[in-house]
Amino acid sequence: MSDFQAWMTERQGRVELALSNALSAANIAPMRLHDAMRYAVLDGGKRVRPLLAFASGELTGADISRVEQAAIAVEMIHAYSLVHDDMPAMDNDVLRRGKPTVHVEFDEATALLVGDALQSRAFEVLSQPGLTSDASTQVQMLGILAAASGSHGMAGGQAIDLESVGKTLELPELEFMHILKTGALIRASVTLGALCGKPMDEVAMNKIDHYAKCVGLAFQVVDDVLDSEASTATLGKTAGKDAAQNKPTYVSLLGLARARELAEELRTDAHAALAGLGSDSTRLKQLADYIVLRKY
Ligand code: IPE
Ligand code: IPE
Ligand code: MG
Ligand code: MG
Ligand code: MG
Repeated sequence: MSDFQAWMTERQGRVELALSNALSAANIAPMRLHDAMRYAVLDGGKRVRPLLAFASGELTGADISRVEQAAIAVEMIHAYSLVHDDMPAMDNDVLRRGKPTVHVEFDEATALLVGDALQSRAFEVLSQPGLTSDASTQVQMLGILAAASGSHGMAGGQAIDLESVGKTLELPELEFMHILKTGALIRASVTLGALCGKPMDEVAMNKIDHYAKCVGLAFQVVDDVLDSEASTATLGKTAGKDAAQNKPTYVSLLGLARARELAEELRTDAHAALAGLGSDSTRLKQLADYIVLRKY
């Protein structure tokens, strides 16, 4: 196992445990909701957003137990977004992370509430006392996660995604949609991880922010590529659904080869953004590689 894989596995294990501890037990009332929340969040997913938070936290010497809390807050928002994304009113998917989607395994009302409750829990976790050394940074972090989740972030991107079905978007419009629906939370993960540590100078902060924008966009470009070329078994979610549902994607607009090239260009840009940050940015560099070269 490479050093990076060992790091990833260790951090993923931490995230799993922290998420499990942060979610109410399935035998606590309301049991069906708590059971479904655990089902949606635990035992699945690559945990890319938490990994990015850990990696940028390393850059600012952040206490790992603090970053862990910021990381699980972002992962809860992400898991909620997936639960709602899969619902019949949105992508109408039956498979997620290799399991039936929440509305299939439970029911639609429960799936709605799982999203609602995970979102609230994320902010509760991020607002816990002692997460950062000064309260104003913590308030800033809460604002960053809120903005990344809302109508100018993930939820806004999802709205554009839905209203674009069957349309051919221009490249800047497609990019805008991707930056919002996926890029915003990824960018927030990197910023929140860094804010858990010592204050960074503006130049360094701008560098990691530029890095985060590149990997955020690359992440959704690769998601579009994989939707078109990987199998359902490998992905753990239904393959080929973007084309089946007439979604505008990088693949539908540019073709597979150009979409793959674009992901590569973004990987190069992400690496370049880290120049001058020193060896502490190695994990961020490795994560850019992982995000672009992943097979699922
Ligand atoms: C899938 O995200 C949805 C997008 C935002 C593209 P991930 O590929 O991170 O899903 P999990 O968390 O690993 O299941
Ligand atoms: C979803 O994008 C982005 C979210 C905010 C959840 P997709 O609809 O392409 O994600 P998958 O392919 O279902 O994971
Ligand atoms: Mg979708
Ligand atoms: Mg979807
Ligand atoms: Mg997709």
